[in-house]
Amino acid sequence: MARVAIVTGGTRGIGAAISKALKAAGHKVAANYGGNDEAASKFRQETGIATYKWDVSSFEACRDGVAQVAKDLGPVDIIVNNAGITRDGTLHRMSREQWDAVLDTNIGSCFNMCRAAIDSMRERKFGRIVNIGSINGQAGQYGQVNYAAAKSAVHGFTKALAQEGAAIGITCNAIAPGYIDTEMVQAVPKPVLEKIIAKIPVGRLGHAEEIARGVVFLCADDAGFITGSTLSINGGQHMY
Ligand SMILES: NC(=O)c1ccc[n+]([C@@H]2O[C@H](COP(=O)([O-])OP(=O)(O)OC[C@H]3O[C@@H](n4cnc5c(N)ncnc54)[C@H](OP(=O)(O)O)[C@@H]3O)[C@@H](O)[C@H]2O)c1
Repeated sequence: MARVAIVTGGTRGIGAAISKALKAAGHKVAANYGGNDEAASKFRQETGIATYKWDVSSFEACRDGVAQVAKDLGPVDIIVNNAGITRDGTLHRMSREQWDAVLDTNIGSCFNMCRAAIDSMRERKFGRIVNIGSINGQAGQYGQVNYAAAKSAVHGFTKALAQEGAAIGITCNAIAPGYIDTEMVQAVPKPVLEKIIAKIPVGRLGHAEEIARGVVFLCADDAGFITGSTLSINGGQHMY
């Protein structure tokens, strides 16, 4: 069945691949983004997918954004919390601003978006929520106490919300990507990246489409028995 989906950070990187894959699966997609108008405009022209600009770290902006999408496309059935940022630094050099920005954007956004959409999902007894976590939320990472804490929280949030939605047709799952060849990872210094790739059993970075494939699977109508799970898509880099 065609559903209405919002993908946060859905105009670039992994999110763009998720938006396109959900559209290809027959869904009506709204791709949110935070500030890069140029990338969003290019994405909109290339894909025909509607784009919506708002800051997912703002509770009010998410409330208004979800309401606007519902008005334009219909009640929201699928939320993919994908928007994320890094502000790396070792703890002894990390500012409070770096901490807050990463926590607000990576996990605060999950609350903001789900809170905005949950009443309608509960009324209609259907919802698919997919939160994009990270291998670094599972395993930790040097220089990323903020990011690892936020992504680890994404996984806890997922399991708790899954319990709340299970009896009323709302599933909530997470995907924990390994290293994917997006701009976020291209920003990692080359020598560091080479060391990272050497530790990936599959022997390469992942592709955004490989994460999108997992999202489409978890959002399907017939995925109703899968909830509270974390799907690791990381080339075998971390297993537990
Ligand atoms: N790449 C990896 O290897 C990797 C690995 C594990 C997990 N992840 C996670 O996967 C997700 C996507 O990563 P990516 O590599 O595709 O990142 P990316 O290429 O940097 O894209 C990030 C997207 O998030 C949006 N965004 C950032 N802050 C926002 C805000 N406050 N409000 C609304 N949108 C905001 C950006 O919007 P603009 O275009 O407007 O800037 C952009 O569309 C993130 O949650 C990331 O932590 C990535």
